[in-house]
Amino acid sequence: MIPDAIVEEIKYRNSIEDVIGEYVSLKRAGSNFVGLCPFHSEKTPSFTVFTDTKSYYCFGCGSGGDVITFIMKTANLEYPEALEYLARRAGIEIPKTETQKQQGIRRDKILDMNRVAARFFHDNLKNSETALSYCKKRGLSGSVIKHFGIGYAPDSFNALGDFMRKKGFTDEELISGFLCGKSKKTGRAFDYFRGRLIFPIIDSSGDVIAFGGRVLDDSLPKYLNTSDTPAFKKSRSLYAFNFAKAACREALILCEGYMDVVSLHAAGITNAVATLGTALTEEQARLMKRSTDRVIISYDSDEAGQRAANRAFGILREAGVETRVLHMEGAKDPDEFIKKFGVEQFRNILSGSITEFDYKFANILGKYDISTTEGKVKAVNDACKLISSFLSAVERDIYIAKASNALSISKESLKRDVDRSVRKNYYKKKKEFTEDIKRKSEGYGDRVNPDYAKNVKASAAEEAILGMMLDSPEYIRRIKKGEFSLTPNDFHSEFGKAVFEAIIKACDDGKFDISVLNESFDSVQMSRIIKMQIARRGLTNSNKAFEDSIKTLKNSKSKEEMSLTELLNKKRKINKEDI
Ligand code: CTP
Ligand code: MN
Repeated sequence: MIPDAIVEEIKYRNSIEDVIGEYVSLKRAGSNFVGLCPFHSEKTPSFTVFTDTKSYYCFGCGSGGDVITFIMKTANLEYPEALEYLARRAGIEIPKTETQKQQGIRRDKILDMNRVAARFFHDNLKNSETALSYCKKRGLSGSVIKHFGIGYAPDSFNALGDFMRKKGFTDEELISGFLCGKSKKTGRAFDYFRGRLIFPIIDSSGDVIAFGGRVLDDSLPKYLNTSDTPAFKKSRSLYAFNFAKAACREALILCEGYMDVVSLHAAGITNAVATLGTALTEEQARLMKRSTDRVIISYDSDEAGQRAANRAFGILREAGVETRVLHMEGAKDPDEFIKKFGVEQFRNILSGSITEFDYKFANILGKYDISTTEGKVKAVNDACKLISSFLSAVERDIYIAKASNALSISKESLKRDVDRSVRKNYYKKKKEFTEDIKRKSEGYGDRVNPDYAKNVKASAAEEAILGMMLDSPEYIRRIKKGEFSLTPNDFHSEFGKAVFEAIIKACDDGKFDISVLNESFDSVQMSRIIKMQIARRGLTNSNKAFEDSIKTLKNSKSKEEMSLTELLNKKRKINKEDI
């Protein structure tokens, strides 16, 4: 995304020794600098900053890169964020790309267009007998219709299009905003929403970002929704959040459908929202978390709704929201419930909403016959799995008490099982976490050698070996003579192995010229090869260094790389008190 020229400029204005010097106390060593490596603990400096190649390399742990890599690792930033940081540090402004600029314009255009279209749909509803009688049937009063800006799209292929074109919008704009589809035959725009009740989707700043449209009869699909546009990302939006935001400090009610939300708001429960025809996403959960402490899941009472609730619990828990679920009987969804039993009754079931544990434990009890030994064992197993998925030890104790009571088993034995399972989860999580971060921080952007991140120590060792071979070709000759035990299969990465084989092949009658490698490697790969060589300059290429690197490569190839793991565990702690 960010042009190369800007990256160059950013690197030029942020001298690597200055930037790293802010984190590491560097001492001059010839034209280079050395210091104690910030990425592993050491007593003698093996961390080197090369001023001519503008790179750093630690001969102890094998971390290396340029000034951007360094910031990404130290500040835990992604590539664009690291560039952003360095640009700011040097007073450079990263220009918006043409596409970004165009998207800005298109977004404004689409919002404009949506506002005009929403007004058209809304005005049109007032003049449509069919639509008004449908609203009446669904219990939508005039004030509710007005409040939500509900409209009606006429049953026509060009009513909206004609109106919008008169207002100066082009077919292309209407199509890009999903107000119109494009005819395959004529290439012309046709109205996308036809004969549908229209629910405008409005964001917190009051902009109409999209529409949902419901048929007035039983035809399919029941709903049509705007797809993602530069002004709308479905996975980040919630229906009626613009209203609910003001009333949701205590709790948000999460529904499945537009009509559920409309009915709840109409009945005075104004903290209800809905996803937009998709399952709950992490982004929506985070959006809710920013405004409320508690979410009450109020999905349909059918099986699909309950499955969706199970899933939503996980996503909301991950986002750090306290979550409850409503138990609704005698109605399919909140809209139907309120119409049947009234809002007071809905408030009652709201206050009777239960926690994730109670909900899932009730499901376990419902699933097995605990009067049989077999059923009981299975129920205990499931309960143990469920309880150990909670991070708080206090919470787990409460659930252990509840479950042991309900299953009539001893608290102590259930606790032992739960503790074991918690420990297992903990180590599994920790491992996943570390591997994840390791790949992210070390391998980020390493397209030349994607294996690098998988074993940083082995990769560093093989690069040192190759660097020495390139810098002092006598090693190539001596390998060919069999003085060192080193074969292609000793290499950890595919890239390292390929470079090794190419060097050996290129070294004819004892002569070696690095330029030959240009035949087998592209320019990006070549720069990496040159970098390995440069990294050896000013360092002693002794027999001992060469043999040590071979030893390190062979040893660490079979081992899990640890130094970065330790570093990351120090940096980001997983709650060990809980196990
Ligand atoms: N939905 C959708 N596309 C469909 C069906 C459903 O986008 N073809 C979304 C809509 O957001 C809808 C929600 O899923 O509001 C729930 O669907 P459903 O329960 O079928 O509709 P209700 O909201 O109950 O609508 P109504 O009461 O009008 O039947
Ligand atoms: Mn419904």
